[in-house]
Amino acid sequence: MVLYFSGTGNTEYIAKLIADGLNDECLDLFDRIRSNDKSPLYSEKTYVICAPIYVCEMPIFLVKYLKSIKFNGNRKVYFVFTSGGYCGSAKVQAKLFSMRKNLKCLGCVEFVMPRNYVANNRYAMDEEDVIHSKISKATKKVKQVVEDMKNERKLKSRHVWLFETLIIAPFAPVWTRYKLVAKDFYTTDQCVGCKICEKVCPFNNIKVVDKKPKWGERCTHCMACIAKCPKKAIEYGNKTQDKPRYLLKNYVPAKIND
Ligand SMILES: Cc1cc2nc3c(=O)[nH]c(=O)nc-3n(C[C@H](O)[C@H](O)[C@H](O)COP(=O)(O)O)c2cc1C
Repeated sequence: MVLYFSGTGNTEYIAKLIADGLNDECLDLFDRIRSNDKSPLYSEKTYVICAPIYVCEMPIFLVKYLKSIKFNGNRKVYFVFTSGGYCGSAKVQAKLFSMRKNLKCLGCVEFVMPRNYVANNRYAMDEEDVIHSKISKATKKVKQVVEDMKNERKLKSRHVWLFETLIIAPFAPVWTRYKLVAKDFYTTDQCVGCKICEKVCPFNNIKVVDKKPKWGERCTHCMACIAKCPKKAIEYGNKTQDKPRYLLKNYVPAKIND
């Protein structure tokens, strides 16, 4: 069973290609997370957990959610990360998670995907040619990864140095808690109250009142609301004005993305 969470489509794209290659089922965790559904999972095949990287790790909310559910059936697991280029200590997190859930980790693999973090001043969004090139390289890489997974080969990934883990482990939760927050989201006059932002929030944190979205306390900066707004009417503080929004589905043929 291939499991994934995705804000802007990168992880969903890779997860679906892997599931297709393995002829396995693919489960989007969005509804489960949104409705706090903690029913157990069952898979006869190796689990494949696919996650975007937030703050040099797998998203804290996602790991917390995965920790809270039972993994029945097969006891083996692969991890697939999609990132803008740096997965930090996600591999260590994956190993600790596997130990805790009594799963055997067969390895982690990283896919460098287009940057989606528009509400951020540190990294510029990728240019169109870079986006195409990253997606094309990642799509080719899936084939090898699927072959390795089919043969239950151990996946190789970058070595994570101890100092990285020592820095990231305390830094990521603090940054997540204080910086990945909703307070700076607002809408411009372009907003038509279509409620798409309300529907795509994994935390059910957006409520449209009098045709205007209001953000509550829970947010993880997945970028789904801002990127999926059809009117480009959502902004974040002074960080997003005149910047392109990124959604994978705008770059691949529709049938791959279904
Ligand atoms: C809140 C946030 C934090 C991120 N932190 C990192 C990071 O530490 N390293 C990195 O390489 N990419 C980082 N990214 C980029 C995403 O990991 C990358 O674009 C990913 O493929 C997005 O997946 P998705 O489209 O499935 O949501 C971050 C993105 C967001 C939204």
